[in-house]
Amino acid sequence: MKTNVVVHRDFRIATIDSRLYSSFLEHLGRAIYGGIYEPGHPTADEDGFRQDVLDLVRELDTPYCRYPGGNFVSAYNWEDGVGPRAERPVRLDLAWRTREANQIGVNEFVDWCNKANTKPMLAVNLGSRGLDAARNFLEYCNHPGGTYWSDLRRKHGWSNPHDVKLWCLGNEMDGPWQVGHKSAYEYGRLADETAKAMRGFDKSLELVVCGSSNSDMKTYPEWEAQVLEQCYDSADHISLHMYFANREKNTLNYLARATKLDRYITTIGGVIDYIKAKKRSKKTIGISFDEWNVWYHSNQQDKEILARDEWPDAPHLLEDIYNFEDVLQVGGILNTFIRRSDRVRIACIAQLVNVIAPIMTEDGGAAWRQTIYYPFYYASRYGRGTALQLVVDGPTYDSDEENDVPYLDVSAVHSEDGKTLTFFAVNRHPSTALDLDVRLEGFANARVVEQVEMTHGDLEAVNTAARPKTVAPVNVESGKIEDGRLRAALKPFSYNVIRLSV
Ligand code: AHR
Repeated sequence: MKTNVVVHRDFRIATIDSRLYSSFLEHLGRAIYGGIYEPGHPTADEDGFRQDVLDLVRELDTPYCRYPGGNFVSAYNWEDGVGPRAERPVRLDLAWRTREANQIGVNEFVDWCNKANTKPMLAVNLGSRGLDAARNFLEYCNHPGGTYWSDLRRKHGWSNPHDVKLWCLGNEMDGPWQVGHKSAYEYGRLADETAKAMRGFDKSLELVVCGSSNSDMKTYPEWEAQVLEQCYDSADHISLHMYFANREKNTLNYLARATKLDRYITTIGGVIDYIKAKKRSKKTIGISFDEWNVWYHSNQQDKEILARDEWPDAPHLLEDIYNFEDVLQVGGILNTFIRRSDRVRIACIAQLVNVIAPIMTEDGGAAWRQTIYYPFYYASRYGRGTALQLVVDGPTYDSDEENDVPYLDVSAVHSEDGKTLTFFAVNRHPSTALDLDVRLEGFANARVVEQVEMTHGDLEAVNTAARPKTVAPVNVESGKIEDGRLRAALKPFSYNVIRLSV
C-alpha cells in the first residue's frame, strides 16, 4: 500500500508557537505529592523536589506548566498555600474528595518551574471566588514590593516577583461538576471584569478564558459564542479540553478520533471569527488546548477510590497506565495540533506526573517514562519551526467517527534554523506496511539524518518500574532519498519520526 505526499518549503500553515508542548500539574492524586514533591525520597533535593522526576521533565522540554488545576482550582484559596508550612491549613478538596495539606503552593511551584526549565501558567479561582481574590493573587505574585500583598510574598521569602504572564480565568466553568459552575453569560461577564481588573495591573498579561470542557457538552458550541460575546476584547485565548478513550476496544475507531479533535478546532475557529466580525475587532483570539490526553484506563479504579467514605491524602487517582496503542493516538493528536497551529497557540498535555501522565513514579522508588512519553518528547524536540501544508493521497478507512480516515496520519515541520525537515507519521493500518513516497519541493540536497520507529506486537504492552523499556523507540534506516523523493516503509501500527537535513 502506498501513500503519496507532496511537501513544498513555501506552503506554510503557520509558525508553531512552542507553547504547543506545554504541560499541566494539578493538586490531584499523586501529581504534586509523591510526583514532583517527596521530601523523604532518595533523590529529593533541598526543597523536597524529586530530581529523578525533574530530569525526565527537563528532557521533555515543556515550555509552560499549568497549575494548580483543573477542577481543584474552583474551590482553591491560593492564600492557603503560602507562608510558613507548619501554619498552612489542611482543607478538604471537594473536586477530588482528598485532604489537601497545602505543603506546596504558588511560591514552591514557581521554584520547581525554574528547576524544570518551564514557566508557570497560573489559574485563578472563578468558581467559589472571583475578581477580588484574582487581583490579590496577581499582585502577590507579580508586584515587586511596597504593597500589602507583594510585601507578604517578600516576608514569605520570595523577594523577587514571579512575573507570571500567562493566566487562566477559571477552569471548565461550563461543567455542572465544577464548584461554582456558571451559565455562559454569568461566566463571560465575570471573566471580562476579572480580565479588566488584572489588566489594570499589567496590560501585557495573556489571559485564557474557558471554552467547552469537551465537544460533547450540551452547551457546545453556543457556550463559546456567548462567552466570547462578553469578553472578546479582554481575552487572548479560549481554552478547550478533550480526552480520548478506547472503551469498546476498537483500535481503528479509537485512532480515528483525532479527526473529531480537528473538527472541534475548526468549529471553535469559526466561532472566534464570527464574534470577531460581530465586534468589528482586529484581534483574533487563539485556542489554548490546555487539557488533552488519553484518559480511561484508570476509570474503574478511580470509581472505587472515590466511592470510599474517606478523605485520603494524595490517593492513586487517575493513574492511567498507557499502552502501545496510546502511542499511536498521542502521535495523531500531536500531528493534529501541528497541522492546526494556525489556531492552536498553546496546548497542555494533561497531566505531567502520575495523573494521566507521561511520567510515573513509585512512592519512595523509581520514576519512569510511560509509552506516551515518546511521541510527546519527539514533537516537543523537533516539532518547532514552521508547520508545512502537505498534500496527502493514500488509502483510507471508514470509522464510527468519520469516513475516509487516512491510514497515514502525517505532519511536517521545517525547523526554526531552516536546516531540518521532520516528518511525524503514524501508520494506522493494523496489518500492512505503508510505502511512504514524499515529493520534496524546494528542499535541495536532502539527506536522512535520523529515523525513529515505535512498534510493538502487542497493542496493550506497557512500561512499568520493573520493565521501563518494554515500549521504546528504536533507530531504523528504511528511509532513502532518491530523485528528490523521500521513500520509507512504515510498519503496520507504527509511530515514526523521519528527520532530513535540508
Ligand atoms: O485533568 C483531569 C481533570 O479533567 C481536570 O481537573 C479537569 O479540568 C478535567 O475535567
